[in-house]
Amino acid sequence: MTIQWFPGHMTRARRQIQDKLKLIDVVIELLDARIPLSSRNPMIDEILQNKPRLVLLNKHDLADPEVTSQWVAYFAEQGLQALPVDAATGNQMKEIMARCKQLMADKIEKQLSKGVNPRAIRALIVGIPNVGKSTLINRLANRKIAATGDKPGVTKAQQWIKVGTEMELLDTPGILWPKFEDQQVGMRLAATGAIKEEILYPEEVALFAVRYLASHYGTSLQERFGIARLPEDPGDTDAIIEVMEAIGRKRGALLSGGRVDLEKASLTILRELRAGKMGRVSLESPSDIPDPASVTEER
Ligand code: G4P
Repeated sequence: MTIQWFPGHMTRARRQIQDKLKLIDVVIELLDARIPLSSRNPMIDEILQNKPRLVLLNKHDLADPEVTSQWVAYFAEQGLQALPVDAATGNQMKEIMARCKQLMADKIEKQLSKGVNPRAIRALIVGIPNVGKSTLINRLANRKIAATGDKPGVTKAQQWIKVGTEMELLDTPGILWPKFEDQQVGMRLAATGAIKEEILYPEEVALFAVRYLASHYGTSLQERFGIARLPEDPGDTDAIIEVMEAIGRKRGALLSGGRVDLEKASLTILRELRAGKMGRVSLESPSDIPDPASVTEER
């Protein structure tokens, strides 16, 4: 799903989520495990305020497990529990329920001490488009929930979906916008497929991806495309373009006259990356976060 976000849509999306917050106990914030910060809404803390929250690092099957562990530690430092999951295969569904229950433990305890039988925990899934919200709802519900008009500005009656006996889920997730004004964020979103190519040039996105792969996953890149040597300096754009051209030749992405069709080569690289053909790859790690001190100095 691609949504064109305008300020009016953002305001409406935010208002819709805030209206739903009144109905729910726990927010399940879905992020892409390969790019947790880039797939995050920049105003999330403000929007969710102090609602108990569980962060899910989805598509963990495609992400580098070592980097995902670093992200779990990163979120723990911010006081947030983060759980790596694969909504597509449905692993960890029981753990999601257990964690939500844990987040509500105090409230449940209080109700029990007053002799009140705690009602099912009510949860809302929020996240940017394509992060896996519908897939997760279907997994938790254990059936296919009809895709609804979950577009910003489109309202409909809310339905609760039973997840076991102890949890209920709102059938319509909250859709949030990413921080696309940051160019690096845009590249990461595009490289993982959260933003479609029509918006950005595939050559530019593939250049970003190959540069990142060359500096973090060089061996996987070499093995996948049979590249003998990678540039010593991944910052050298011409050298990275040469790698892309070598990949294009390997994959037969050629124009008449034998020149490499760089657009076709780029689309191939991105397709294979998104399908996990280069192994489990993360495109963002906590060490990529700029040091706030150095950002201030640049101003
Ligand atoms: P959304 O509601 O947040 O917009 O996302 P949705 O569930 O539609 O999921 C977007 C795509 O991500 C789907 O691929 C879905 O199968 C995939 N996906 C969701 N969870 C996982 C996961 O844990 N692992 C992997 N590998 N993929 C996951 P799709 O239907 O093929 O869509 P697309 O590829 O055409 O965008």
